Amino acid sequence: MGRLRKSVSSIVVIGALVAGCGGETALDGPTIYANQCARCHGSEGQGGSGPALDSGGRLTGWEEAEIREVIRRGVRGTAMPGFQGLSELQVDNLVLYLKQLP
Ligand code: HEC
Repeated sequence: MGRLRKSVSSIVVIGALVAGCGGETALDGPTIYANQCARCHGSEGQGGSGPALDSGGRLTGWEEAEIREVIRRGVRGTAMPGFQGLSELQVDNLVLYLKQLP
């Protein structure tokens, strides 16, 4: 049993290292958000030059896939840039973070 647990945690560590190879190493939603999104959407998602992303914003009812798409592609003709450099894991973590904002 102990042995199984050990190999599972090594897999997690290797996954984190591989995902971090894009140069942008932060993997957790809050850190990526603080580094790349907060300047427009506010430190807590309350909005700023960009719309609020917390429950007071327009995201209520959006599918996760739609949120992922906006993050990847941006919104053409607006200040919202596309973040193609983020890994799948980073986008997943961002979406999870946005979904749990109060
Ligand atoms: C330079 C400013 C800027 C940055 C940086 C930025 N955004 Fe945006 N974002 C905007 C603007 C402006 C819009 C509104 C676009 C529109 O009018 O539809 C937007 C829209 C969105 C939307 C759709 C919400 C809605 O109500 O239409 C999501 C989701 C989003 N941004 C997530 C993010 C995430 C996650 C990041 C960081 C990875 C990020 N944004 C970084 C400016 C920014």
